[in-house]
Amino acid sequence: MTNNTLLANVPTDLLYQALETEKGGVQIYTTALRLAINKDLREEWNKYLEQTKNHVQVLSNILNGLGLDPNTETPGRKIVRYIGTSLVKAMEMASRCADPQAAQIVAAECVVHAETKDHLNWELLGELAKQANADESALLMPAYQQVEQEEDEHLYHTAGWTRELWMEALRMPAVLPPPEEVRKVDNAIEAAQAKKSRTANVKANTAAKAKKATAR
Ligand SMILES: [Fe+2]
Repeated sequence: MTNNTLLANVPTDLLYQALETEKGGVQIYTTALRLAINKDLREEWNKYLEQTKNHVQVLSNILNGLGLDPNTETPGRKIVRYIGTSLVKAMEMASRCADPQAAQIVAAECVVHAETKDHLNWELLGELAKQANADESALLMPAYQQVEQEEDEHLYHTAGWTRELWMEALRMPAVLPPPEEVRKVDNAIEAAQAKKSRTANVKANTAAKAKKATAR
């Protein structure tokens, strides 16, 4: 594999941004876990933290495979790092100033911010893999196929958690764990369907509670 050809064809800054996003993700999940109160959410984020650590390795391997130093600084990754550090600082601020329930919501929002970028990176890397020449594709496609589904889960499930934690804080009927979690959503269409299904879940929960109260 001649790296000169690959370097000419691969938008390297996206790869560096993707690596920096994953590295920031490790810090973000580590901090978010300190603010997570819900046991199911903690379990979920612990799993995502381990997967994110693996994504750091996957992207480092791609860069190494292309003959690129994973530690090289680029303008793009600098911005990504700044945003990641800011999200960690926001959560630290919440842990000092907010009540535990509100701080948990801040953590969930910060994870959604980070995972939105992460999800976009991998979507673009998937597009690159489809257009790439054979050598590039051999590096990118297996990584994309391995990581893509995990990224869908990280984003859609945490978005569901954020919405339902907000509903709970607003003292409105919440569906916890969120339907995205129960239905094991892993794409945008399923996420929309899960969100729609929450109304039925809320009605069923309310009816069950009313029945229980009457039986007492
Ligand atoms: Fe990731």
